[in-house]
Amino acid sequence: MKASLSLGDLTLSPPLALAPMVGLSHSALRTLALELGGVGLLFTEMLSVTRLPEENASVSPFLLRYPEEQPLFYQLFVSPGQDVVPAVDRLHQLGAQGVDLNLGCPAPNLRKQGAGCALTNDREQVRRIVAMLRSATSLPLSAKIRLGASLNEEELVDFCRMLEGEGVDLLSVHGRLHKEKFCRRPRWDWIGKVKSAIKIPVLANGGIFSVEDARRCLEMSGADGLMIGRGAACRPWLFGEIARELYGAPCLPVSLTLPEIYFRFIQLLERFRPERRLGRLKQFTHYYGQNFTYGHHLAIAVQTSVSVEQASERACQFFSGSKEEE
Ligand SMILES: Cc1cc2nc3c(=O)[nH]c(=O)nc-3n(C[C@H](O)[C@H](O)[C@H](O)COP(=O)(O)O)c2cc1C
Repeated sequence: MKASLSLGDLTLSPPLALAPMVGLSHSALRTLALELGGVGLLFTEMLSVTRLPEENASVSPFLLRYPEEQPLFYQLFVSPGQDVVPAVDRLHQLGAQGVDLNLGCPAPNLRKQGAGCALTNDREQVRRIVAMLRSATSLPLSAKIRLGASLNEEELVDFCRMLEGEGVDLLSVHGRLHKEKFCRRPRWDWIGKVKSAIKIPVLANGGIFSVEDARRCLEMSGADGLMIGRGAACRPWLFGEIARELYGAPCLPVSLTLPEIYFRFIQLLERFRPERRLGRLKQFTHYYGQNFTYGHHLAIAVQTSVSVEQASERACQFFSGSKEEE
């Protein structure tokens, strides 16, 4: 396993990425993951190519970013016919390290706009958008896909070769079909079919919650690295564990307790405007609570709080009587 991955001038070391996730992959979680160690690449949540140029970067929770959050790829979702150039110009001003195209999100609101995985129904539109992105930036360009609408190796491989041919530098592959839910096991072996058909690096994504999952996913896919989503919201120190155990990185084991990590997250949320904090805390707690035997009690306590202060007090009470998941 190669402990680093080069993309032009950029080195991802280790090749472990925090996945783009709406409401989760923001400045606070990105910073927490960096502090706990082992993450080599960060993504924003998906950003509208039309709204991005108008966002106020100093207050927008989507664009707020601290200098240490590097390397950071900004993920765009694009509908057919939209211009990407103003958004990419904005990303240059914001100091992006890379630009990512969302070709995998099946959410109904994106589907309605013909963006995310719906865009892949029209291969020529994808080609046009990727070509437009490629000529708009010399930054690394990545794309994130699912395996397709149905299992078809030839179509999948052709599609990925097209992306590669149009100048995509890095491909993240979520090992599920467009309509498959998270309860279905991801098909890591199918990510391997993509990996062996193209020359650009591939990040394998889907269902990685432990070092053992990471090891098996890398073995089955032969991918160049991993992208982790929910597992990182649940266990933000997971990158460090994988980096240490699979890549031999000099990451020290985390000495903070679970409550300390939770309260550090709350502290990091203070960089957002007050009205933007509670929703993000609720979303994070939904995942973080899974570290505790009765974690759903924590999630409910926070979910029904009316302020971050109330949520913090309730979390404190929960931690004082709780047990970690075995
Ligand atoms: C709450 C949530 C929000 C997500 N938002 C995005 C997004 O903005 N862009 C994207 O490409 N994928 C998004 N995803 C998909 C993840 O990036 C990832 O592909 C998926 O969660 C599978 O990986 P995991 O099993 O490691 O979580 C989201 C997933 C979740 C759970």
